Amino acid sequence: MNPSAEPGHVYLVGAGPGDPNLITLRAARLLATADVVLPDDLVSDAVLDLASPTAEIIPVGKRCGQPRITQAGIHELMLHHARAGQSVVRLKSGDPLVFGRAGEEMAALREAGVPFEIVSGITTAFAVAASLQTPLTDRTAASKLILATAHHAEGKLSLTPSWHGAFPPEATLVLYMPGRNFAALSADLIAAGIPGESPCVAVSKATTPDEQVCATTVAGLPEASVGPAPLLLLIGHAIQPGR
Ligand SMILES: C[S@@+](CC[C@H](N)C(=O)[O-])C[C@H]1O[C@@H](n2cnc3c(N)ncnc32)[C@H](O)[C@@H]1O
Repeated sequence: MNPSAEPGHVYLVGAGPGDPNLITLRAARLLATADVVLPDDLVSDAVLDLASPTAEIIPVGKRCGQPRITQAGIHELMLHHARAGQSVVRLKSGDPLVFGRAGEEMAALREAGVPFEIVSGITTAFAVAASLQTPLTDRTAASKLILATAHHAEGKLSLTPSWHGAFPPEATLVLYMPGRNFAALSADLIAAGIPGESPCVAVSKATTPDEQVCATTVAGLPEASVGPAPLLLLIGHAIQPGR
């Protein structure tokens, strides 16, 4: 495997949750050698500092459903630079294959015949669990791990439509993009079968110097002092923060 980014190739790279120590060696080497870097909003400056000083960095973040650039625009940028013979790192927070629209980007690259590679990153759920020193599974309390989002393509922020039937017992739920309507979210979770007394830990800006942790319960979520976005919720009896 060539450690350097190759001309005409696109790399969908996981930037991890923020701390640059948490990206892979492969990601660091590609970042250091790529001609063009296309980062999402949530990619930290500390990770972007690993890019070559000569790289062209073009932010392609979209916020709050009001896109500054469309998904099709991102595809065009990737294809344009790759076809011009440049090496392109498409940098996504966490892991590129978890809630990152990588499927659409891979389809566009395949259709255009542009060679690409996926470089895994540490998804926020795993980084947060490590930071809190809590397991996500437990032999007695959680035999299933569910990664879910309250954010839907239509822009709705409701959990209920994504659950058909009761929430499985003995599961840990990790909720990405939980929104800020914690009263509705708490009610939805309880209606989906999660006991109100289940531990719920909200982690804001995980692995950055501004990380905030708020430990509560599902029923207590509406009254809890939860930090700002980006925010991740860990829910279930396996979640026992050690710090
Ligand atoms: C579009 S999703 C991307 C997820 C990413 N691909 C991953 O694997 O972690 C964005 C959501 O990830 C979560 N997230 C990403 N970075 C985070 C961080 N440093 N702290 C807390 N949550 C984070 C938040 O729930 C945020 O709304």
